[in-house]
Parts: sequence; structure tokens; C-alpha cells
Amino acid sequence: MPLIFGSVPILAAVAIQLLISSVSSLNITNEYLHHACNNTQGKYKPGSVFEKNLNIVLKNISASSLHKGFALDSNMDRPYKNIPPDTAFVMLQCRGDSYGPKCHSCLAEALSGLRKKCPRNKAGTIWYDQCTLDISTYSADDTRVLYDNYLCTTNPKDLSGDKKMFDKRKQDFAKKLMSEASKSGNNSKGALYATGETMMMGTTKLYGMMQCTYELSENGCDVCLDWLVLYHPFCGDGKQGVRYMCRSCNARFEIYPFLRT
Ligand SMILES: *[C@@H]1O[C@H](CO)[C@@H](O)[C@H](O)[C@H]1NC(C)=O
Ligand SMILES: *[C@@H]1O[C@H](CO)[C@@H](O)[C@H](O)[C@H]1NC(C)=O
Ligand SMILES: *[C@@H]1O[C@H](CO)[C@@H](O)[C@H](O)[C@H]1NC(C)=O
Ligand SMILES: *[C@@H]1O[C@H](CO)[C@@H](O)[C@H](O)[C@H]1NC(C)=O
Repeated sequence: MPLIFGSVPILAAVAIQLLISSVSSLNITNEYLHHACNNTQGKYKPGSVFEKNLNIVLKNISASSLHKGFALDSNMDRPYKNIPPDTAFVMLQCRGDSYGPKCHSCLAEALSGLRKKCPRNKAGTIWYDQCTLDISTYSADDTRVLYDNYLCTTNPKDLSGDKKMFDKRKQDFAKKLMSEASKSGNNSKGALYATGETMMMGTTKLYGMMQCTYELSENGCDVCLDWLVLYHPFCGDGKQGVRYMCRSCNARFEIYPFLRT
């Protein structure tokens, strides 16, 4: 196994540490992963109506319990019809093992991240390990799948052994998780979310996680994950781990555990 420490990011370092130490010392990370500023919706000025609206919504979300790990809120009432300009919408989706207080801290981190990466943008999305945050001036208020900002990132370490076999088993495992996630729309804990582990080769296990934003229907979740993972078969090819992201769903596979149990 080639170890090039100079170029290995923190997560891989954690992975190496995990292989050496026991699972009980699992170090849960909340890495920044990706962001996308939407420039077509413009920028806001300090003290503007949009800024005030955004602050109202963020304050309201921060005050909520977030015990289901999801918020879609606006300064206007539902249904979202005839949306006035400068209306603020915020969508927050926390990972299924990061609800409640953990979701609150992820919101704070994501918010400060988004403000740095997309300063004063009225719209943008940011992805962290434990949550996705999206702000916008409009919301479709329906269950449409949003495929925007697809990204594939990989664990830099190469697989050793039979890569074809690994990929085949990973695909089968992905299909199983996909079906579980898209049948869990009404689970009180972890809706549209599935996790698991499966035996790969020898003693190697593969750990997986899939999640859709709670805006989607069960069917929409199935469609999103199918597109995200099965339509991108070369994402993560030959690597020990992979993350798939888009606006409406995300997935991750690693050969070490990366979730709270
Ligand atoms: C967990 O990871 C963080 C950041 O990578 C590091 O600062 C911390 O020391 C680690 N904790 C343990 C117990 O390994
Ligand atoms: C950016 O905002 C526009 C509306 O102004 C929308 O049509 C488009 O889908 C958004 N892009 C992304 C990537 O979300
Ligand atoms: C605040 O959030 C609650 C649910 O947590 C919602 O019922 C209410 O409409 C929200 N109010 C505003 C002004 O966003
Ligand atoms: C929850 O169950 C209801 C009724 O069975 C269904 O209509 C709804 O789509 C489910 N929720 C999700 C998010 O799938």
C-alpha cells in the first residue's frame, strides 16, 4: 500500500489511523467538500430587504430543534406562489447521523463557509460531510429532483487486488442501499437515508451511505440516487473510497467506517 504523506489529506490520514487503531476511536469529520455560487440570482447589499429576510429565516431555523435534520424555510408563507423578489429560501439537510445539536453546529459551519466562498450571493449551495446548505430567492416547492452541481471526489488511495470484482460488489451494494434509502421516506430517524456495510475481498469491508434531501418523494429519491451513482460508473474507479454529490442527493463509500453508530 503506497503511503505518500505529503499529499494525503486529513481524511486519508484519519483512515490510516483507523486501520491501526480500533473502531471505538472513530474520528467523525465534517470536511468542507464543495460549493457552487449561483451568480444568475445576483448579489445583495448590506441592509437590503433580502439580507433582512435571509436573517429572519436563518434565525428561525437556528431556533428550531432540527431533530429531523431538515429545514426548508422562507420569510413567506406556503404555498410558494407568486414569490416576490428578495424573498429568501433556505434549505438545510443534515446527514442521518447528525441531527439535532450536530445539525445546528453543521449549519453554523456551512453558513460561515458559504459567506466566505460566495460573499453576498443571493443564491448558492455548500456541501460538508454532515450537511448541505442551500440559499436562494426562489423555491419550486415541489418534489423535483435537482441534479445541479454534480461532483465526484475520491479517496486518493488506490485499490489493490481485483478491481473488477470490487466494482461489481460495490454496484450491488449501492443498489441495495438505494432501494433502502428510497423506501425510508417516513422513517422518524433518517428519512430518505440508508447506511450499511458489506464484505468485499478477504477481510476488507465496504461502508456506504446514501441520502436525499427531504424535499424529494421516495420515488424522486430513487431517481436521484440512480442517476448519481449508477449513471456515473467511472466515478471512484480503482479507488478505495468515493463521494458523489449533487443538489438533491449524495452518497459515500469507504473501506473504513465514517459514520456515528
Ligand atoms: C480528530 O480529527 C481532528 C481533525 O482532523 C483532530 O484535530 C483531532 O485531534 C482528532 N482526534 C482524535 C481523537 O484523533
Ligand atoms: C441559478 O439560479 C437560476 C434562477 O435565477 C436557476 O434557473 C438555476 O437553475 C440556478 N442554478 C443552479 C446551479 O442552481
Ligand atoms: C419558523 O419555523 C417554523 C417551523 O419551525 C414555521 O412554522 C414558521 O412558519 C417559520 N417562520 C418564519 C417567519 O419563517
Ligand atoms: C410518507 O408516506 C406517505 C403515505 O404513505 C406518502 O404519500 C409520502 O410520500 C411519504 N413520504 C415520503 C418522503 O416519501
